[in-house]
Amino acid sequence: MAKGKKIVFYCQNCGYESSKWMGQCPGCREWNSFVEETVSPQKSGSLYASRKEKQTPVSLSGIDMDKEERMLTHIGELDRVLGGGIVPGSLVLVGGDPGIGKSTLLLQVCRKLSKDQRSVLYISGEESLRQIKMRAKRIGEFNENLKLLCETNLGTIKAVIEEMRPDVVMIDSIQTMYDEEISSAPGSVSQVRESTNVLMQLAKGLGVMIFIVGHVTKDGNVAGPRVLEHMVDTVLYFEGDRHASYRLLRGVKNRFGSTNEIGVFEMQDKGLEEVKNPSQVMLSGRPLDASGSVVVCSVEGTRPILIEIQALVTQTNFGLPRRTSVGIDYNRVNLLMAILEKRAGLQLGNCDAYVNLAGGMKLGEPAIDLGIVLSIVSSYKNRAVDPNTLIFGEVGLSGEVRGVSMAEQRVKEAEKMGFTTCILPQTNLEALKGKFKIHLAGVSNIRESMNYV
Ligand code: TYD
Ligand code: MG
Repeated sequence: MAKGKKIVFYCQNCGYESSKWMGQCPGCREWNSFVEETVSPQKSGSLYASRKEKQTPVSLSGIDMDKEERMLTHIGELDRVLGGGIVPGSLVLVGGDPGIGKSTLLLQVCRKLSKDQRSVLYISGEESLRQIKMRAKRIGEFNENLKLLCETNLGTIKAVIEEMRPDVVMIDSIQTMYDEEISSAPGSVSQVRESTNVLMQLAKGLGVMIFIVGHVTKDGNVAGPRVLEHMVDTVLYFEGDRHASYRLLRGVKNRFGSTNEIGVFEMQDKGLEEVKNPSQVMLSGRPLDASGSVVVCSVEGTRPILIEIQALVTQTNFGLPRRTSVGIDYNRVNLLMAILEKRAGLQLGNCDAYVNLAGGMKLGEPAIDLGIVLSIVSSYKNRAVDPNTLIFGEVGLSGEVRGVSMAEQRVKEAEKMGFTTCILPQTNLEALKGKFKIHLAGVSNIRESMNYV
């Protein structure tokens, strides 16, 4: 081996570094994720190492903010997740399973930005120019401000960007890029890290905005986006059920905005379409007057979304009752069932229970507790809850219903969607009295709320 090189083992999932192979990663607990890589001693890779001039510290008031204008992508759902547009010089990672729509989304962003007279460079290491054109044809008309490049060599890419000086650059995907100075294969941890580092220097140095696509992989052959999460400014994940056409874009990290925001899209034959009213989508096709079905409200970022929860409670056939949940924490469901048994006297000990969240969403907010409780009660008693009722509230261990934040927004959303009743915590009721036409039913414990089933 060449002098100065050494062998390192990297976890391809999280980038954990080790001098010997291990079966399980101590960092992320993933099995069989370590791969051998040869690394050269670190070249001067630090962010501003290339700057030779002397730097002097400045005070906050001396920093010019005029240039800090955000660039809108004119895709409302994306702009919101980004915190109100793209910040110049920022590096945005778009992660997600293969085939979920990352390339489509970025191409649509290219289209909008190039219409806005921004120069955009789309670099693909996965598809040929013809393939990109085929995709672009489905999306719509493009103008001359968008330039395409099929390239995987980072040295060439760097030279092109430095010469062309575009406003925005798309890199599809980081796992196909390689730096000649690094001997390991494209997609390995050291390649992915070093490539991101080079892009980071370009973004900060030239003030270009760079979007990076990162595939989430299960097999561990290529490094996942988690390896570079800490290096970039913003991390967005594309989620969604492959069988459903809805896609959620979730902000996981954002140096320039809130991270709880989600954007909702629908994959159509002309690309991704924004879903402006997610509540309507989530509630479409819901059975009316069916036992076990209730509507809850969860606040994602700043936006309230109405979602249906379904529960099915049946007599168990075996000694050990079976409980499953989809989209909701399994332990939370078990806990709420224990509360129902102890505080409301329901005999759930010999019942199977299945609780589902419709629409492929995942929710963790405690405000949906009361909804889960009432859906279980409704299925257990085989009596439907009025379909025009919205339910929210957190449930405590002694069966009390506690107040939740942003109650006003939730009630407003219910009213907008045409609901007539809202079951909510008594503590939230006081502040909302007289503000809404919708009937507000305050409850202080789960026994009271069971009157509405
Ligand atoms: P793509 O953006 O290639 O996914 P990724 O880059 O995340 O791997 O999306 C590919 C999927 O989207 C593919 O299954 C086809 C589908 N699709 C549509 O349904 N409509 C469209 O207009 C486009 C462009 C793609
Ligand atoms: Mg792609």
